[in-house]
Amino acid sequence: MIAIDGTSASGKSTNAKLVARALGYIYVDTGAMYRTLAWYCLKNRIDVSDAKAVTSACRKWKTSLVCVDGRVRLLVGGYYPEKEVRTPETAAAVPHVAAIPQVRKWMVKRQRECVQFGNLVMEGRDIGTNVFPETDFKFYLDAKLEERSRRRAADGVQENLAARDQRDSQRATAPLMIGLGAKVINNSSMTSEQTSGLILAEVRRRLAAVKR
Ligand code: DC
Repeated sequence: MIAIDGTSASGKSTNAKLVARALGYIYVDTGAMYRTLAWYCLKNRIDVSDAKAVTSACRKWKTSLVCVDGRVRLLVGGYYPEKEVRTPETAAAVPHVAAIPQVRKWMVKRQRECVQFGNLVMEGRDIGTNVFPETDFKFYLDAKLEERSRRRAADGVQENLAARDQRDSQRATAPLMIGLGAKVINNSSMTSEQTSGLILAEVRRRLAAVKR
C-alpha cells in the first residue's frame, strides 16, 4: 500500500499512475471519489453547504466499486462520471462535501475496501494520515504555488488553488497534513519521471529494509 498525499496540482495523479504502472499495482484516485459525490449533489440540486442534506444523500446513493484496467472507479447507479467530475463547478463544490465528517467516514470505508483489488497506490489528502496510517510507504508531494497554477493552466483549468488548499488544510476533519514518516518531495523543478523515479527508488529501498 503506497500512500501519496499532497497539495492540489502537486503531481499526485501523474506520479501515482506512473508508480502503479511500474510496480503493477492498482491506482486509486480518492479525490475523484469526493468529486463524484459533489457532482451527484449538483446534479440532484442538493445544496453542498447543507451538511445534513449531503450526509443523507451519501447514505442513500447507490454506488459500487469496480476495478478497470488497473484503476478503481466509484460508480453511481452503474455510471462512471469521468468527465463530469472535472468541471469547474464540481471543483468548486468538492471542498464543501469533503469537509463533512460523515462523508469522510463513508469515503474512508470505501477506500479501505479497495484492498480487495490488490496492492494499491492511493492518492489523496489524508491517505497516510487517516486511511492507511500504518503503511510504511508514505509520500507527500508539494510544489511552489506559481508552478502548480502553471500546471493547472497548462491542463486548461483555471482555478484558485490557494483557496482550495487553504480549505483542505484548515478543515476540522482529516485536514491535509504530512503523515508521520512520510517522505516529502518538493517537485517544483522536477519532471514527473524524476519525481516518480524518486518515489520508486524509495519504495524499493523500504521494501528491501522490510525484507531484511
Ligand atoms: O485531488 P483532487 O483535486 O481531485 O481532490 C478533490 C478534492 O477532494 C480536494 O479539494 C480535496 C478533497 N480530497 C480530500 O479531502 N481527501 C482526499 N483523500 C482526496 C481529496
